Amino acid sequence: MRLKTLRNGVDLSGKRVLLRIDGNVPIEKGKVIDGPHGKIARSAVDIEWLRQRGVKVIVVTHLGRPEGKRVPAYSLRPVAKRLSELLMVEVKLSRDIAGPSAQKLVQQMKNGDIVLLENVRFDPGEERNSTSLAHALSQLGDLYMNDAFAVSHRAHASVDAITSEIPSYAGPLVVSEVGVMEKVIKSPKHPFVLVMGGLKMKDKLPVMKRFVSEVDRVLVGGALAHVFFLAHGFEIGSSTYDPDGVKAAMEIIKLGKEKISLPTDVVVVKSLRKDAERKVKFLQDVLKTDRIVDLGPETIARFQKTIQLAKMIVWNGPLGYTECEPFRTGTLAIAHSIAKRTNKAITVVGGGDTIPVIESAGLADRFTLLSTGGGAMLEFLAGEKMPGIEALEL
Ligand code: 3PG
Repeated sequence: MRLKTLRNGVDLSGKRVLLRIDGNVPIEKGKVIDGPHGKIARSAVDIEWLRQRGVKVIVVTHLGRPEGKRVPAYSLRPVAKRLSELLMVEVKLSRDIAGPSAQKLVQQMKNGDIVLLENVRFDPGEERNSTSLAHALSQLGDLYMNDAFAVSHRAHASVDAITSEIPSYAGPLVVSEVGVMEKVIKSPKHPFVLVMGGLKMKDKLPVMKRFVSEVDRVLVGGALAHVFFLAHGFEIGSSTYDPDGVKAAMEIIKLGKEKISLPTDVVVVKSLRKDAERKVKFLQDVLKTDRIVDLGPETIARFQKTIQLAKMIVWNGPLGYTECEPFRTGTLAIAHSIAKRTNKAITVVGGGDTIPVIESAGLADRFTLLSTGGGAMLEFLAGEKMPGIEALEL
């Protein structure tokens, strides 16, 4: 796939570039929770690239799902603050999206200035892919650049409709994510290992379906494994699981039973407290009163053996209840193994909940691609339509 890009040679000085980023990150007590390899930090690199070229950068993003209403908890104030800190320059936040406040701020911009427009999902037109919102946004810029791979699967006004209003290009993050993921789709290397965790079977099903005949092994962990346990008739006690996922798990088992590796031993607790007593149990010994929170040591070793031989690894979703630090052992062990394999294999890792664990282990730059996209990564790999990317093809 060849994408339209703003090449190094183009004179951008004085141009107003409308830059769509994915600034959708967790906010706690008014502060952005996003590490040095997180989405905001990675977008800041590209904002700086534009600033260095004398561009007036008008940044567009959503935060959360405010459903077309102005919800103060989803204001981008903390994102503006974080960008200002990272770029060491003032990032002005407009009060509206493309209304008088945004227009005034943009008119006052000098080359190299940055304005962040307020949460684009405060406008109901965003999720409706509204042409009038796209048109209003386009009036603020000369060019549009999509650097938000993680939201490119959405047909939203600031991702899709905007590209019909103004010359549009793919940003560096989109180009690199698409490039690596295309390799996975078009030239898979074997042994090819898919590692799937997380909770929602609905999100993983299309990718598993697409790749189950292609891959050599699917390693399943986290709450996702629980629906496979149920499909095989095992007890999972009070473990979290996706009730709609059991039927889907049966479908996948039918398609590739011999390729699917499930945990054979697990860590169980009676409560989700940090200091809860942890026990390793074989799957057949799990009781009604148990809660599965992590992979057991035998499973970790078996999964690691498979990873050590792989030439291509795609991983999405945590392999245990990683919200609680003591239950991260399996996820961390697998993260280390995949990172170690990166010099011999193409390694693609993604999923919103996986990244904080990887960052905490200092492994963020140890993969061929640490994707900013969770859902977007899965949809791209599953071959689904990506409106924000299709519009940027040459
Ligand atoms: C993400 O965080 O995965 C993207 O920002 C997409 O968010 P959405 O699922 O709310 O569209």
